[in-house]
Amino acid sequence: MLLFDEDTIFKAPRPRRHSRDHAEREPVIVFDDLWKAFGSNVIYEGLDLTVYKGEILTIVGGSGTGKSVLLKCLLRLLVPDRGRVTAFGEEVTGRTEAQMFPIRRRIGMLFQGAALFDSMTVADNIAWPMRMHGWTDEEQIAARVEEVLTQVDLPGIQRKRPIELSGGMRKRVGLARTISIAPEVILYDEPTTGLDPTNVKMIDQLVVDMQDTMGVTSIVVTHDMDSAFRISDRIAVLWDKRIRWAGYQDEISEAADPIVMDFVNGDVGSADDGPRP
Ligand SMILES: Nc1ncnc2c1ncn2[C@@H]1O[C@H](COP(=O)(O)OP(=O)(O)OP(=O)(O)O)[C@@H](O)[C@H]1O
Ligand SMILES: [Mg+2]
Repeated sequence: MLLFDEDTIFKAPRPRRHSRDHAEREPVIVFDDLWKAFGSNVIYEGLDLTVYKGEILTIVGGSGTGKSVLLKCLLRLLVPDRGRVTAFGEEVTGRTEAQMFPIRRRIGMLFQGAALFDSMTVADNIAWPMRMHGWTDEEQIAARVEEVLTQVDLPGIQRKRPIELSGGMRKRVGLARTISIAPEVILYDEPTTGLDPTNVKMIDQLVVDMQDTMGVTSIVVTHDMDSAFRISDRIAVLWDKRIRWAGYQDEISEAADPIVMDFVNGDVGSADDGPRP
C-alpha cells in the first residue's frame, strides 16, 4: 500500500550525516520510562527517547501532547511522576535547584515566544544568562553580546528594546541570549511559529549553523514539517503519551505507520487540527 507520495514528503531532506548504528553514537540526553500527569490529565505513560551528541532531533506532535513539558522535564522546571531523565550521563530527576545549576549552564533553551524581558535593552537581555552564571567583567560581557548579535545577523542593536523589534528579530535576539553562554545542548520550542517564510528560513539556517560551527546538540519542537525536513537529522513523533516513532528521514518509509505518515505529510498542520489518540 502506498501511504504517501515520496515527492511531497522528501522535499529537501538533510543528507544523513550519522551512523545508522546507534551503538556507535554517544547519548547526551535520555528520557527513560517517563510518566507524568497533571491531575487527571495524563501526559506520558512510559515515554522513552534518546538524543545523541551533535544531532538535530525534531519533536513533532499535536497541540497539548506534552512537547513543551518534555523540554521542561529536561531542565527540571517540571518533575516527572516516574522515570528518569539524564543529561551528560548525570541524572536530572531528583536533583535540587542548586544541583541543577551546572547542568542548566550546559543546556540553553529558546522558549516558545522568545520570552524576552521587555523592560531591558537587547544587550541586557542577552547578558542576563551570562550574569546569572557568574560573568562580571562588563567589557567581556559587551564583547560577547556583540559577538552573538553578529552571529544571528543583528549587529548593532544592543540599545534597542524588544518592543521595537519584529517577531523574527525577537526570536533571533532570544537565540543570541540562548547561545551567549555557549551551551552544549540547545532546546528550541517552536522557533519558527508565527514567522514569515524568510524569517523561518533564517532561523532554520541558524539552527543548522549552531550545530555545524559549534557542534551543538539540538532538540527542536516544531509544527512546521517543511522546516523539520530542512534541519533534522532525526524526527520523533509524540503520540498517545509516548514517542510513537523516532528515526532518520530516510527511514520514514520503512516505518510504514499511518500515524507517522499523517505527521510527516503535514496533516497535523497547525497542531490544533492534528490527529489525536
Ligand atoms: N504546569 C502545568 N500544570 C498543569 N498542566 C500543565 C502544566 N504544563 C502543561 N500542562 C498541560 O500539559 C499538557 C501538555 O502541555 P504542553 O505545553 O507540553 O503541550 P505542547 O505539546 O507543547 O502543545 P503546543 O503545541 O500547543 O505548544 C497540556 O494539556 C497542558 O495544559
Ligand atoms: Mg508547546
